[in-house]
Order: sequence, then structure tokens, then C-alpha cells
Amino acid sequence: MAIFVDSGNIAEIQKFMKMGILRGVTTNPTILLKDGLTGGMSEIKKRTLAIAETIYPYPLSIEVTTNDKEKMLVQARQLAAWADNIVVKITIHGPDGELHNVEVIHTLEHQHNVRVNVTAMMSAQQCLLAAMAGATYVSLFCGRVNNMGYNCIDELKKTRKLLDQFNLKAKIIAASTREILNVVEWWEAGAHIVTVLPNILDGMLVHPYTKETVRQFLQDALKSEQLIVQTQVPATLKEIAPVHTGKKDVFPARL
Ligand code: E4P
Repeated sequence: MAIFVDSGNIAEIQKFMKMGILRGVTTNPTILLKDGLTGGMSEIKKRTLAIAETIYPYPLSIEVTTNDKEKMLVQARQLAAWADNIVVKITIHGPDGELHNVEVIHTLEHQHNVRVNVTAMMSAQQCLLAAMAGATYVSLFCGRVNNMGYNCIDELKKTRKLLDQFNLKAKIIAASTREILNVVEWWEAGAHIVTVLPNILDGMLVHPYTKETVRQFLQDALKSEQLIVQTQVPATLKEIAPVHTGKKDVFPARL
């Protein structure tokens, strides 16, 4: 089980890398735009290289920006050549249900040695077919599944069972986090990986009662320090005054 962060923000990614909790990053055109990226492919390349280096050797998923079959093949191979740890995201089908995406996924994995993350999937059956086509990762958009009124937990359980039964290599990425409890509940349902929004990772760590407890510890540490200062015996007296034990040997008090 692993955590990826769903972000194109270098500072956020570095923050979680330094904590040692990240095992990968996922992005898409919407996330990159939200994280301030404009300027087309040359800017995508700069940001991608910076993220790939920051998290190396962990994988960075970056999405193609076209749904044209030939252009997707060319672009996916270009993206993958930018760094060893790049995984190319291809949606399971096009905006009008075009199915050539599945052939592209298969060709990239089997003929060009490109690792593919099949994305924007809403059901176990889509994930199964993507895995059969050879995908390295299958991304189930759990938050969006729930938004449509279905329970993504059922789809995750089914997906994991099917991948295991068919002995398929694909790893399930549970994506589209909405709530802090999603991460653990999606792992429990069978996801290999959950890709998490930065604010949700923060929310998993910070608890109001932990804050209160830490505040109490720090206040009491300060009080105890102040009490030592008030009750301290002058060092010179402590060191010089002998202890009268009634016995023959006499030791200085500080021993
Ligand atoms: C991950 O790979 C996806 O791009 C992402 O989780 C989508 O999330 P959204 O539903 O919040 O757009």
C-alpha cells in the first residue's frame, strides 16, 4: 500500500518527500493548470522534469494532451523519454467514447516499453479491460464514482478481486480523493495505492486533540523549567557544604 500525491506543486511535493511518506506523484492537465502552469508543452516539460527529479526514483504520472490516436502515440513516447520515472496517463476512452485509446495503451506497453496509467475510470469493468490491455496502473476515480451516487468501495473490491483472479500485473490507484477518511477506507477495500490531494494529507496528520495535548506538554515543560529556577540552591553552597551522615566518611552534597 502506498501514498501518491495528486499535485503539480513542487513545494507541496517536496514537503511530503522530506517526510518520507510519498511513493509517487500523479498530475493531469486540470491539476497543472490549478497549480499555476500555463504556456503549453514547454512549461509542462519544465515542471515535469522538476517533479521527476524531486521524487526520483518514484513514478510521476503525466497525461497526454490529445485524444488523436497517432498524436497520442507520438506524444506518450516523447513524455516517457523525458525521465526514467515517467508514467504516461491515457484515458480509457475519448470524450465521445472513442475506443482507440485501448489500442494505444496496449501498443505503448507492449511495443514501446512505456509504462501507462489508464485514467478517468469509473468502474471495475473498465479497470479490468485496461489491465488486460497491459496497463501498469489502473486509476479508479473513486470520489467521482461516489459523486454519481454509486459506492466506490464496491468497485474497488471487485477490481482487486478481478485483477488477482486473472493474475494481472496492474496496480490499482484509487484517485479523486474528497475526504480524509478516503485513504484508509480505499486501501482496506483493495487499492494498492491512493493518490491524495495535499490538503487531505495535511488533514490526515493534524488532529485538534493532538494540538491541545502538545500545547499542554509544552506549557508544563515551561512551568517545570521556571520552578527549577525559583527553587535552585546556589551552586557554591551545594558544592561546599558537607553532608553530616553520622558515619565516618563525609561526601560533598552533589555526589
Ligand atoms: C489522479 O490521477 C486524478 O487525476 C485525480 O485524482 C482526479 O481527481 P478529481 O476527481 O478531483 O479531478
